[in-house]
Order: sequence, then C-alpha cells, then structure tokens
Amino acid sequence: MSVIVADKVVKQYANAERPAVDGISFTAEEGELIVLLGPSGCGKTTLLKMVNRLYEPTSGQIFVDGTEIHDIPATELRRRIGYVIQATGLFPHMTIAENIATVPKLLKWERSRWSPRVDELLTLMHLPTEYRDRYPVQLSGGEQQRVGIARALAADPKILLMDEPFGAIDAITRAALQKELRDVQQRLKKTILFVTHDVEEALLLADRIMVLRAGRVEQFAPPLEIVLSPANDFVAQLIGADDLFRRLSLLRVDQVQGPYDGTTNGGPTLRPSDSLRHALSTMLSSDRQTLSVVDEQGQPIGVVSYDQLRTATQNA
Ligand SMILES: Nc1ncnc2c1ncn2[C@@H]1O[C@H](COP(=O)(O)OP(=O)(O)OP(=O)(O)O)[C@@H](O)[C@H]1O
Ligand SMILES: [Mg+2]
Repeated sequence: MSVIVADKVVKQYANAERPAVDGISFTAEEGELIVLLGPSGCGKTTLLKMVNRLYEPTSGQIFVDGTEIHDIPATELRRRIGYVIQATGLFPHMTIAENIATVPKLLKWERSRWSPRVDELLTLMHLPTEYRDRYPVQLSGGEQQRVGIARALAADPKILLMDEPFGAIDAITRAALQKELRDVQQRLKKTILFVTHDVEEALLLADRIMVLRAGRVEQFAPPLEIVLSPANDFVAQLIGADDLFRRLSLLRVDQVQGPYDGTTNGGPTLRPSDSLRHALSTMLSSDRQTLSVVDEQGQPIGVVSYDQLRTATQNA
C-alpha cells in the first residue's frame, strides 16, 4: 500500500485568480524520497501543508496509509508526519532538548522516555549531547537545522515533510546535511516529501522528482529520466538539460553503471557517487573505454563504458 496518495487535490485561495494547487494526484511509496521542484509560487508549500492538514484542500483527497487524513485524529497525524521548515522554526525560549521533545511531549510521553530519545537523536544528527541545555541562538544555522530534523524525527514518524530545509545554509554545510539526510533515509526508511529550488540538490536526493509549474505536475519521474527525457521545454530549461557537460555533471555513475563482469582492468576506478563528467575525464586521461566502479572497500561492483556515457547523453 502506498504511504501517501493524493487524489485530484485542489487548493483555491480566496481572491486568487487560479488555484495554487490545480488538481494534483500522486503516490509516495514506503522509504521513497520525492522532491518537489519548481519556481517560486508554483504551489510546493501549499501542497505540503495540505498533507499534514495545516491547510485544507478545496477539493480532492489525501490518504496516509490508506486512511483519508480527515479520518485520522490530529495528534495521530502529528505523530505520523514530521515537518521541517526552512527557518528551522525552533522555539527560541526553549532548550534544544525541549525543542526536540515537542511532539513527544504533546503525545504526553514521560520524561524518562523522551529524555533518552533526545540524546539518541542528537547523536544521530552528529551533534554533541551537551547541546541539550543550550538555546537555539547558541547554535550555528547548520546546527539548528540538524536540530530541526531531529525534532521532526522525535516521535519516529513514518513520513517527513521538508520545505527547503537547507535553503539558508552555506554550500559546505549543506552538502554535509544532504549526505546525512541520505544516510538517515537509508537507515530509517522514511517516506519523504522534500521541497527545493535547487536542481543539483533535487538530483542528488530524489528517488523521484515532481516538477511543478503553476499548481500542476509537468513531470514526475526518477532523476535520470528527468535529465535524459525532459517531458517538455519547461522541464528541460529548469534542469538545464540542453548543455551536454552540464548533463554529464548532473548524472552519477550509479545511475548508468552496468553489472560487474568479473574482470578487473587495473586502471583508475570510479565511485558510484562520481559524476559522469568525472567518469568521462577519467576515461580520456587514462585512455580506457571501460572503468571499474568500486565500493568503499575497493571491491568492484560494476562497470561504466564509454558507450554507456554516449547512450546517456544521446537519449534526450
Ligand atoms: N495563505 C495564502 N493565502 C493566499 N494565497 C496564498 C497563500 N499561501 C500561498 N498563496 C499563493 O499561492 C501560490 C503558491 O504558493 P506556495 O507558497 O505554495 O508556493 P511555493 O511553490 O512554495 O513558492 P516558494 O518556492 O516561493 O516557497 C502563490 O501564488 C502564493 O501567492
Ligand atoms: Mg514555499
């Protein structure tokens, strides 16, 4: 069963010319990270806020675990859905521990239950447990963002809604947070709806990308397909798919690699997370048309050939 099902969801704000969300249907499966990508005002936040009932749809329905969200008690919906916003939304007058325990306390957990959970989540997000008693203002922006994610995870929700969570963060911290999110995702198997403006971030994180324009879905597909076969000019322009080198730099080795064929050629190797642009330059500089892909232990796990790169760049 799909974790989230949206069925022809419409949001028409009073006095607006057209609906902010204009009949969107989609499903999100267990453990899937879906990125909502599109220009400012296309309805990303509005769609997200209807999933956790901060906004009511004008029409259409949303189901979580098969139940229409209006049939789920509000506290239960809060437990099942964690929410992270761009400005972190931490309560300034509350300590880090109290912030993280927001939902557990709403759910009336005993201190003996939520307090160890706070330490567990700080550790998960690579923050020292000594931060418990600090106030948000005593943390850097990136640290506050980690606390925001810890808070969203506190009651072990099945679903995370993340609205440009890394938008205000510098590039280096942002890359670290992206990696942590992917690790958390792989370990905890959350179903995540993640809003961003940033194409690179979308391609890096998403299992599937939903490209939105003016309240409608332009394309809903895995990153590779979005880059190689953009549904229309709007998607192609948004992704910047018209530039060959840009496309190569947007795609990763693990998105095109073939199975390990049992031979090792002794030349330079690639990592699954390397870009195809890196793969091409490695091929050119080593004068080899096939390179092995290796895991963290250096064990071969696949191969990438020049032909695969050619196919990947010609499909559009
Ligand atoms: N509470 C509201 N009342 C009236 N109109 C609203 C309200 N919230 C959003 N809108 C309008 O609905 C449209 C979609 O807004 P939304 O916030 O969903 O966009 P977004 O895709 O999240 O944009 P951004 O990337 O800038 O955050 C916009 O035209 C916006 O002006
Ligand atoms: Mg928004």
